[in-house]
Amino acid sequence: MNILLLGSGGREHALAWKMRQSKALSQLFVAPGNAGTASLGVNVAVDPNNFAAIKDVALKNAIDMVAVGPEEPLVRGIFDYFANDDALKHIPVIGPSQKGAMLEGSKDFAKQFMAKYGIPTARYKSFTRGSVADGFAFLESLRPPYVLKADGLAAGKGVLILDSLSEAKAQLEEMLNGMFGEASRTVVVEEFLSGVELSVFALSDGKSYKILPEAKDYKRIGEGDTGPNTGGMGSVSPVPFATPEFMEKVRTRIVEPTIRGLRAEQITYRGFIFFGLISVGGEPMVIEYNVRMGDPETESVMLRLDADLVDLLDGVAKGNLSERTCRNLPQAAASVVCVSGGYPGAYKKGIAISGLEKVQGCIAFHAGTKANGANIETAGGRVLVLSSLADTLPQALEKSYAEAAKVEYEGKYFRRDIGKDVLAVGK
Ligand code: AMP
Ligand code: GLY
Repeated sequence: MNILLLGSGGREHALAWKMRQSKALSQLFVAPGNAGTASLGVNVAVDPNNFAAIKDVALKNAIDMVAVGPEEPLVRGIFDYFANDDALKHIPVIGPSQKGAMLEGSKDFAKQFMAKYGIPTARYKSFTRGSVADGFAFLESLRPPYVLKADGLAAGKGVLILDSLSEAKAQLEEMLNGMFGEASRTVVVEEFLSGVELSVFALSDGKSYKILPEAKDYKRIGEGDTGPNTGGMGSVSPVPFATPEFMEKVRTRIVEPTIRGLRAEQITYRGFIFFGLISVGGEPMVIEYNVRMGDPETESVMLRLDADLVDLLDGVAKGNLSERTCRNLPQAAASVVCVSGGYPGAYKKGIAISGLEKVQGCIAFHAGTKANGANIETAGGRVLVLSSLADTLPQALEKSYAEAAKVEYEGKYFRRDIGKDVLAVGK
């Protein structure tokens, strides 16, 4: 099978790495890919949101399946674009239809869906410019801190958490007045949930589903979860507090009602579903849906996935996922992200990376890298993800940290406390 994978981050390198292990994979193309994916397949310099260009790549290379890494092409309707084009409709796209992608593309849609299907989530109301007075009244009925969410995609920046009521009101007004452009024309205001977060992933063919290894990611730039949000500074899997009892609650209260709800709404969904969850006193609740895999969770999840990924995706495409085998390895995985100096603010690109050849017993997934002749250079904020698998989480962390120390580039930074919180809880 020839596969075209869309995206260019560590997530896509990890997916490509896992696909490469399958006997069912013939040629792999990655659009646009990075220096890591170039070692596993052919990078094609095409923007995943340029569907006409993706069509050309797919037809020219006899592609049998398109797997979509990031959310944007899905929210823009790449699934429907293929399904409605006579030349493309024989090529399955792994991902939801445009309607299904609204679970991530519209927080208001996602909240209505959860309310309708009884899926536990924070109490909420949605507001537009015309209903700002109601928004103020709703804020007054809540206890601090206050959670404001832009309805649409806002590059991961659309959620504000505010301590004071007056600030929450002011920010609500600013959001409705276009703080995040179109994305915040509608704003979801919701109750603050206090607990520990984790990411649960399912793969579905629209009828059945497989739950993949769960993971926890670390979003803030600073140790102890301080400073601004980033695209993710590390991940671990498994998550110690996600006990079998907890995961059973996730399955019956969240995953199954979601799949049932999608079917009831006649929404075509053949792809990954990412449940951003919070455990509130041991009870799982949904913070958000994403319609793709998480980054940097995927790097840890793929290490623990005891399955042939291409076979699973083929099951998704053919609608017989229930016949495919999917297990989790008992070992632990840890991923440490090395970023550019200054990230998530301004940072330099094009800095030479050395020491990659010294990395052993650990995978250096590439996130923001680019080949320049024989050399590899930085090309983004998140540069490399060092991912290890070991018998225990402390061992996996130790290995990833030891190998992260071997890679060098000017300005390299990584958090030294990945996984520390979950290990402390177990003590
Ligand atoms: P989201 O973009 O929806 O994932 O929100 C970004 C982050 O804001 C989440 O990962 C949580 O840490 C936090 N967050 C979002 N909604 C809530 C909530 N209702 N209660 C507490 N924290 C939240
Ligand atoms: N790690 C969170 C995300 O991918 O959105």
